[in-house]
Parts: sequence; C-alpha cells; structure tokens
Amino acid sequence: MNIIAAVDRNWAIGNKNALLVKIPRDQKLFLEMTQGKVVVMGRNTLESLPQKQPLKNRVNIVLSSDKVYAVKGATVVHSLEELFLELKQYESEDVFVAGGETVYRQLLPYCDTAHITKIDYAYEADAYFPRLDELPEWELAADSEEQTYFDLEYYFLQYQNTSHKSFL
Ligand SMILES: NC(=O)c1ccc[n+]([C@@H]2O[C@H](COP(=O)([O-])OP(=O)(O)OC[C@H]3O[C@@H](n4cnc5c(N)ncnc54)[C@H](OP(=O)(O)O)[C@@H]3O)[C@@H](O)[C@H]2O)c1
Repeated sequence: MNIIAAVDRNWAIGNKNALLVKIPRDQKLFLEMTQGKVVVMGRNTLESLPQKQPLKNRVNIVLSSDKVYAVKGATVVHSLEELFLELKQYESEDVFVAGGETVYRQLLPYCDTAHITKIDYAYEADAYFPRLDELPEWELAADSEEQTYFDLEYYFLQYQNTSHKSFL
C-alpha cells in the first residue's frame, strides 16, 4: 500500500483543514499516480476538496465514525477493520493513503511505499505527517532533482518501509 503527501520543511501538511500550498506540478503528479486507483482519506480531507466531492476517475474510500454519513461517489467505512475488509478486493500496490494527519498516522505502519513531495519552506500549520527521516524502518529510496515553483524549492522523494505490517 502507498501513502502520498506533500509536506513542508517541518513535515507539516495542512492548516485550518486546507493544504499549505498548491503546486500545479505536484497536483498533476498526484492525479497521474492515483488515476484509476484507490484513494483512502479521512472525512476532513474529503470535506476539504472542491465542492466536498470525491476525486474523479478513482475509487474513493472515506473513513468516518458517523454511521449516517454518506457521500455520492465514495464508499464510507467506519473503522480500520472495515477499511481493511474493503481493501481486500484491490491490489495493495493500487491503494494510496491520501490523508489527512489522523489517517496517515493510523495507516503508515501498513504502507510499504511513501511518495513525499518535500517543500523547502516552513508554513504556519496545524496538521503534520510523521517524520519519516526519524523512523528507522523508513529508508529514502529515491529523490528527484530540485524542482521550483516561483521562489519555492521542492523535491519528489520516495521512501520504503523495511518492515510494514500486513492488513490482509
Ligand atoms: N499535504 C497533503 O498532502 C495533505 C493531504 C491530505 C490532507 N491534508 C491536510 O490534512 C488536514 C486534515 O487532517 P485531519 O487529521 O484533520 O483529518 P482527516 O485525517 O482527513 O480526517 C479525520 C476524520 O477521519 C475519520 N477517521 C479517521 N480515522 C478513523 C477511523 N479509524 N475510524 C473511523 N473514522 C476515522 C474521522 O471522521 P469523523 O469525525 O466523521 O468520525 C476523523 O475525524 C487538512 O489540513 C488537509 O488539507 C494534507
């Protein structure tokens, strides 16, 4: 299972239920990588999307403890157990954990590959991704050339988890 996030210098991912910055090339890469695949997100992240609508052309699975919460075009699951049952029908490599903080923290141990856009700037933030460079099981496997968007510098990084848990 994959996990995908854009983080700042301090591994921050969001503020006031919004992204810190929108970098067109990063958003394009996210859409390309997840096209036709499965994205897993928390209710807050779904509600932060334009018109609070699921992402088109992919299977959207949303975590919420609210049993009456329903979203057209998305499957709502109410626990990790229910999520893992739902995911059994897909190849693990086709599943992308797409945030936010609470969902990243719970599912990180079950992921083998992390696609991290690392932005070299410190934003005001209230949501964070776990600091992969401080977790011994996560190793940096690939990095890109420096990318730029106006005066921002950022990198596409890939980390691998050497001891991920199975949810099957
Ligand atoms: N930079 C990035 O790449 C990126 C990507 C995605 C999101 N974000 C940012 O992350 C922030 C949102 O993160 P967040 O932690 O506040 O919210 P979140 O993880 O998106 O959603 C949290 C909600 O998900 C549900 N949930 C989580 N775990 C559950 C479980 N085990 N069982 C049942 N329901 C569960 C709960 O919904 P209920 O309250 O309905 O029970 C919970 O309140 C925003 O700022 C967003 O922009 C950043």
